[in-house]
Amino acid sequence: MVAFAPQLERLTAFPFRRLAALLADVRPPAGLEPVDLALGEPQDPPPALLARTVADHAHLWNRYPPPQGTPEFRRACVDWLVRRYRLPEGLLDPERHVLPLCGTKEGLFLAAALVAGRPERPLALLPDPLYGVYYGAALTFGLEPRFLPATAASGFLPDLDVLDAATLARTAVLYVCTPYNPTGAVADRAWLRRVLRLAHEHGFLLIVDECYAEIYDAEPPPGALEVAAEEPGGLRHLLVFHSLSKRSSVPGLRSGFACGDPEAIARFLHLRAYGGAVQPLPLMAAATALWRDEAHVAETRERYRQRFAVAERILGGRFGFRRPPGGFFLWLDVQDGERAAVRLWREAAIRVLPGAYLGAGPAAESPARRYVRLAMVHDVDVTARALERFVAVLG
Ligand SMILES: Cc1ncc(COP(=O)(O)O)c(C=O)c1O
Repeated sequence: MVAFAPQLERLTAFPFRRLAALLADVRPPAGLEPVDLALGEPQDPPPALLARTVADHAHLWNRYPPPQGTPEFRRACVDWLVRRYRLPEGLLDPERHVLPLCGTKEGLFLAAALVAGRPERPLALLPDPLYGVYYGAALTFGLEPRFLPATAASGFLPDLDVLDAATLARTAVLYVCTPYNPTGAVADRAWLRRVLRLAHEHGFLLIVDECYAEIYDAEPPPGALEVAAEEPGGLRHLLVFHSLSKRSSVPGLRSGFACGDPEAIARFLHLRAYGGAVQPLPLMAAATALWRDEAHVAETRERYRQRFAVAERILGGRFGFRRPPGGFFLWLDVQDGERAAVRLWREAAIRVLPGAYLGAGPAAESPARRYVRLAMVHDVDVTARALERFVAVLG
């Protein structure tokens, strides 16, 4: 038998495989339309601009795409960032600060390799609960995960007060996510400033996953770049990640980018030239067009607002319901997330994700165990029917 890497033994199965195993022998009631609220996959149609632009660039399929992407793509990303975060002109140079990715997932994974392998800095600080890719990255590249619990007491953001100077001095990387999947919390500028200053002071890489930045309710969530623009340490030690998957409802396009510290971007480009996938040129042209268009994003945002209004009407005042300021998830306190997921599938044909599957390693007493995550990705009617059934079972 092949001698597989021992660290892979510590990787728990991906949340959706765990959910499939949990529900494998559970039958939903006959005659009820099943609704999947577990998977965070936008169900809205992709903008027409996408297919049109791909077709217009069909002559480029016979070319290898360069790992650094096209100048047009990098320029569109910078123009969008400057508009979205009101960044000072000149802060970002498309040639030095931006790297295209085939979706942020692979970039968030590979980024840990940039800082792994230094014995004096063995730690990866991770939020709990978390998008499991951060955990998988830390383990795969030999970093030791340390979890920062995000509870009601810490405003559903990772608790920074658990960090001491000795831990910070041994930290290689800190991953954070805002708007935060799964809790729906949004980090304010002061919180972002705090983590950025920690990175500057203690010399670790700060990764800010902002892939839900464009799905918000009242206010656009602040971003780490706008905070960095005001700090003496600037972009040093910082990588932010952005994606078209949620913004443009195109998870199938596999398109995102990293932006930040020019030295980290240069090393990332170097690394990805060996082991990174590169987006084909016709798709990159479509991504360029999507970053330049705001109209479809405004419509998408409005659809999410309507779903959250429905959720607030049906769930408000129960299960610790909070209307999330950003992202498209509800994070509901049902006391025992796994038990609730089984009941909801058996009695109401609704799939939800137990919080424990997004929590820290299997043995830990993660604060996420009490919760379930619901993705508000269906249209208002489907959402309303599903949430009525949710209340009928658990209310
Ligand atoms: C927190 C978070 N980060 C990153 C991703 C990856 O998105 P993509 O690879 O489609 O850009 C996801 C996808 O669900 C996510 O929830």
